[in-house]
Amino acid sequence: MTIRPIILLPDPVLRQVSKPIERVDEGVRKFAGDLFETMYDAPGIGLAAIQVGAPRRMLVIDLAKEGEPKAPQVFINPEIVSCADEASVYEEGCLSIPDYYAEVERPKDVTVSYLDLEGKLQEIKAGGLLATCLQHEIDHLNGVLFIDHISRLKRDMVVRKFRKMARDKAPAGMVG
Ligand code: NI
Repeated sequence: MTIRPIILLPDPVLRQVSKPIERVDEGVRKFAGDLFETMYDAPGIGLAAIQVGAPRRMLVIDLAKEGEPKAPQVFINPEIVSCADEASVYEEGCLSIPDYYAEVERPKDVTVSYLDLEGKLQEIKAGGLLATCLQHEIDHLNGVLFIDHISRLKRDMVVRKFRKMARDKAPAGMVG
Protein backbone atom coordinates (compact mmCIF):
# COMPACT_ATOMS: atom_id res chain seq x y z
CA MET A 1 0.00 0.00 0.00
CA THR A 2 1.18 3.46 -0.88
CA ILE A 3 0.53 6.82 0.67
CA ARG A 4 -0.38 9.15 -2.18
CA PRO A 5 -0.09 12.93 -2.17
CA ILE A 6 -3.41 14.67 -1.48
CA ILE A 7 -4.46 17.34 -3.96
CA LEU A 8 -5.24 20.71 -2.39
CA LEU A 9 -7.52 23.62 -3.15
CA PRO A 10 -7.46 25.43 -5.62
CA ASP A 11 -6.18 22.61 -7.90
CA PRO A 12 -8.73 22.33 -10.75
CA VAL A 13 -8.45 18.53 -10.60
CA LEU A 14 -10.78 18.71 -7.57
CA ARG A 15 -13.48 20.10 -9.88
CA GLN A 16 -13.42 17.12 -12.25
CA VAL A 17 -16.43 14.81 -12.40
CA SER A 18 -15.19 11.27 -11.71
CA LYS A 19 -16.07 8.34 -13.98
CA PRO A 20 -17.79 5.13 -12.87
CA ILE A 21 -15.63 2.08 -12.23
CA GLU A 22 -16.57 -0.57 -14.76
CA ARG A 23 -15.05 -3.62 -13.16
CA VAL A 24 -14.11 -4.20 -9.53
CA ASP A 25 -10.84 -6.06 -9.97
CA GLU A 26 -7.56 -6.54 -8.14
CA GLY A 27 -6.37 -3.12 -9.29
CA VAL A 28 -9.41 -1.47 -7.69
CA ARG A 29 -8.89 -3.43 -4.46
CA LYS A 30 -5.23 -2.40 -4.37
CA PHE A 31 -6.19 1.21 -4.99
CA ALA A 32 -8.67 1.04 -2.08
CA GLY A 33 -5.72 0.02 0.11
CA ASP A 34 -3.80 3.09 -1.04
CA LEU A 35 -6.78 5.32 -0.28
CA PHE A 36 -7.04 3.94 3.27
CA GLU A 37 -3.29 4.26 3.82
CA THR A 38 -3.41 7.88 2.63
CA MET A 39 -6.49 8.70 4.71
CA TYR A 40 -5.12 7.13 7.93
CA ASP A 41 -1.79 8.90 7.45
CA ALA A 42 -3.42 12.33 6.98
CA PRO A 43 -5.38 11.57 9.26
CA GLY A 44 -8.98 11.90 8.11
CA ILE A 45 -12.30 10.04 8.26
CA GLY A 46 -13.10 10.06 4.54
CA LEU A 47 -11.27 10.31 1.23
CA ALA A 48 -12.45 10.30 -2.38
CA ALA A 49 -10.27 8.95 -5.22
CA ILE A 50 -10.17 12.34 -6.96
CA GLN A 51 -8.37 13.77 -3.92
CA VAL A 52 -5.32 11.73 -4.93
CA GLY A 53 -5.84 12.66 -8.59
CA ALA A 54 -7.79 9.59 -9.76
CA PRO A 55 -11.11 10.60 -11.36
CA ARG A 56 -12.88 7.34 -10.43
CA ARG A 57 -16.13 7.05 -8.52
CA MET A 58 -14.79 5.53 -5.38
CA LEU A 59 -14.37 6.64 -1.78
CA VAL A 60 -13.30 5.30 1.59
CA ILE A 61 -14.59 6.12 5.06
CA ASP A 62 -13.56 5.09 8.58
CA LEU A 63 -15.45 6.73 11.44
CA ALA A 64 -13.74 4.77 14.25
CA LYS A 65 -12.55 7.07 17.01
CA GLU A 66 -9.00 7.10 18.28
CA GLY A 67 -8.31 3.94 20.26
CA GLU A 68 -11.22 2.05 18.68
CA PRO A 69 -10.62 -0.79 16.21
CA LYS A 70 -10.49 0.34 12.60
CA ALA A 71 -13.81 0.25 10.70
CA PRO A 72 -12.89 0.68 7.02
CA GLN A 73 -15.75 1.09 4.53
CA VAL A 74 -15.35 1.28 0.75
CA PHE A 75 -18.02 2.69 -1.58
CA ILE A 76 -17.65 2.13 -5.33
CA ASN A 77 -19.96 3.98 -7.76
CA PRO A 78 -22.05 5.29 -4.84
CA GLU A 79 -25.42 6.85 -5.64
CA ILE A 80 -27.77 8.66 -3.30
CA VAL A 81 -31.06 6.79 -3.72
CA SER A 82 -33.09 8.92 -1.33
CA CYS A 83 -32.59 11.42 1.46
CA ALA A 84 -34.53 12.75 4.42
CA ASP A 85 -36.41 16.05 4.29
CA GLU A 86 -35.02 16.80 7.72
CA ALA A 87 -31.62 18.49 7.79
CA SER A 88 -28.72 18.40 10.20
CA VAL A 89 -25.71 20.63 10.63
CA TYR A 90 -22.13 19.40 11.10
CA GLU A 91 -18.87 21.24 11.24
CA GLU A 92 -17.03 19.86 8.21
CA GLY A 93 -13.43 19.88 7.13
CA CYS A 94 -11.64 18.38 4.13
CA LEU A 95 -8.18 16.90 3.59
CA SER A 96 -7.97 18.99 0.41
CA ILE A 97 -8.68 22.20 2.38
CA PRO A 98 -6.53 21.63 5.48
CA ASP A 99 -7.22 23.50 8.73
CA TYR A 100 -10.47 25.06 7.52
CA TYR A 101 -13.78 24.11 9.09
CA ALA A 102 -17.30 25.37 8.54
CA GLU A 103 -20.83 24.34 9.43
CA VAL A 104 -22.72 22.73 6.56
CA GLU A 105 -26.39 21.80 6.46
CA ARG A 106 -27.28 18.59 4.64
CA PRO A 107 -30.10 16.02 4.70
CA LYS A 108 -29.99 14.16 8.01
CA ASP A 109 -30.35 10.64 6.58
CA VAL A 110 -29.46 9.21 3.19
CA THR A 111 -29.87 5.87 1.48
CA VAL A 112 -26.90 5.10 -0.75
CA SER A 113 -26.41 2.27 -3.22
CA TYR A 114 -22.86 1.21 -4.11
CA LEU A 115 -20.65 -1.70 -5.10
CA ASP A 116 -18.49 -3.38 -2.49
CA LEU A 117 -14.95 -4.67 -3.06
CA GLU A 118 -16.39 -7.92 -4.46
CA GLY A 119 -18.37 -5.92 -7.02
CA LYS A 120 -21.67 -6.75 -5.28
CA LEU A 121 -24.46 -4.18 -5.22
CA GLN A 122 -25.20 -3.00 -1.68
CA GLU A 123 -27.46 -0.43 -0.10
CA ILE A 124 -26.99 1.40 3.18
CA LYS A 125 -29.30 3.68 5.12
CA ALA A 126 -27.03 6.11 6.91
CA GLY A 127 -27.69 8.71 9.58
CA GLY A 128 -25.57 10.95 11.77
CA LEU A 129 -21.93 11.48 10.90
CA LEU A 130 -21.94 8.69 8.28
CA ALA A 131 -24.75 10.43 6.36
CA THR A 132 -22.81 13.69 6.35
CA CYS A 133 -19.53 12.01 5.45
CA LEU A 134 -21.09 10.04 2.56
CA GLN A 135 -22.64 13.21 1.13
CA HIS A 136 -19.36 15.14 1.49
CA GLU A 137 -17.40 12.38 -0.30
CA ILE A 138 -20.01 11.79 -3.03
CA ASP A 139 -19.89 15.55 -3.67
CA HIS A 140 -16.15 15.13 -4.39
CA LEU A 141 -16.99 12.61 -7.14
CA ASN A 142 -19.08 15.34 -8.76
CA GLY A 143 -16.41 18.02 -8.42
CA VAL A 144 -18.22 19.66 -5.51
CA LEU A 145 -16.46 20.80 -2.33
CA PHE A 146 -18.00 21.47 1.09
CA ILE A 147 -17.13 25.16 0.73
CA ASP A 148 -19.68 25.26 -2.13
CA HIS A 149 -22.34 24.84 0.58
CA ILE A 150 -21.26 27.87 2.63
CA SER A 151 -21.76 31.57 1.95
CA ARG A 152 -20.12 33.11 -1.09
CA LEU A 153 -18.23 35.54 1.13
CA LYS A 154 -16.68 32.80 3.27
CA ARG A 155 -15.93 30.69 0.21
CA ASP A 156 -14.15 33.51 -1.59
CA MET A 157 -12.08 34.13 1.53
CA VAL A 158 -10.90 30.53 1.86
CA VAL A 159 -10.22 30.17 -1.89
CA ARG A 160 -8.14 33.36 -1.84
CA LYS A 161 -6.17 32.11 1.15
CA PHE A 162 -5.38 28.76 -0.50
CA ARG A 163 -4.55 30.41 -3.81
CA LYS A 164 -2.02 32.59 -2.04
CA MET A 165 -0.57 29.60 -0.16
CA ALA A 166 -0.19 27.67 -3.43
CA ARG A 167 1.55 30.66 -4.98
CA ASP A 168 3.93 31.07 -2.06
CA LYS A 169 4.79 27.36 -2.20
CA ALA A 170 5.47 27.34 -5.95
CA PRO A 171 9.15 27.15 -6.85
CA ALA A 172 10.66 30.58 -7.28
CA GLY A 173 11.57 31.60 -10.81
CA MET A 174 15.11 32.08 -11.94
CA VAL A 175 16.73 35.04 -10.37
CA GLY A 176 19.47 36.19 -12.68
NI1 NI B 1 -13.32 16.39 1.46
